[in-house]
Amino acid sequence: MGNLSASLHGRDLLSSADLTRAEYEQVFATATELKREFRESRRHVAQPLAGRNVALVLEKQSLRTRVTFEAGLNQLGGHALPLGEGIGFGVRESVFDIARNLALWIDGIVIRTFDHSVVTELAAEARIPVFNALTDDEHPFQALADLLALREHFGSLEGRVLTFIGDGNNVYHSLALAGATLGMEIRLAHPDGYGPHEAIVARAEKIAIATGGKIVVGRDPREMTPGSDALYADVWVSMGQEEQSHARFAAFAGYCVDSGLLDLAGPNAVAMHCLPAHRGQEITADVLDGPRSLALEQAENRLHVQKAFLVESIGR
Ligand code: CP
Repeated sequence: MGNLSASLHGRDLLSSADLTRAEYEQVFATATELKREFRESRRHVAQPLAGRNVALVLEKQSLRTRVTFEAGLNQLGGHALPLGEGIGFGVRESVFDIARNLALWIDGIVIRTFDHSVVTELAAEARIPVFNALTDDEHPFQALADLLALREHFGSLEGRVLTFIGDGNNVYHSLALAGATLGMEIRLAHPDGYGPHEAIVARAEKIAIATGGKIVVGRDPREMTPGSDALYADVWVSMGQEEQSHARFAAFAGYCVDSGLLDLAGPNAVAMHCLPAHRGQEITADVLDGPRSLALEQAENRLHVQKAFLVESIGR
């Protein structure tokens, strides 16, 4: 394990705007080292999370987040405590009381929930780090994994153009904030009525002014795509939006990453998807499963960036 960053010790990760460019580089460096070691031997000699216990509070379904946090903690000597839905966040007991109790016993809290204010309240009350594993507003560990995959593929991030096709959702928000911090151009093509939060776009634009990055928001995928290094697809109907399915299917009909759109981006452009995917809806099977897809690299990196952040924040 290389040098850890003092600035990340004890830190939450609630938003992709929480990290400076140097801190992103630090997490990428630690993740790259952990990934190399894991690929070589499927185990780590150093156990920087030995004795560390982290609660997993996942109030929505998950494959990647659940398995990568649990396995990642175990691989580094730590222990995951899945709390399940029975905890009754804000129902049986207030977030305030839960946070104060958990901080007495354990070292960190991973939480996937709906309203972003739940994680900010939890972080404000808990005396231990809180790690956002997806809210309605953001998915910062996904953005870390995605941008590491993009950097591994192209060798650099600054000046790269990533175009998100579809919903201006939590994944887009985190990519816009992280990409802006790293000097990228992040574009979005979204249907009317499904745009991003204006406050988050404004924040990303402000960050981009300082880094040389750029934020572009439009409607037409074919107008936004040319010159893109990556086209990013996400589901048309996210968890908790099932009752909107009919309207969303109608609105998103033209927002599919297919081989024609990928060709329009450029000969070296790649397709990205955070998974789970619906082949034939937001992305075609030939693109998702083809040689220009980074989807599995993104999923693989979830393990490594999360381990890296845990080591930086609560490791020894
Ligand atoms: N991309 C992602 O967060 O996957 P899960 O919902 O399966 O955790």
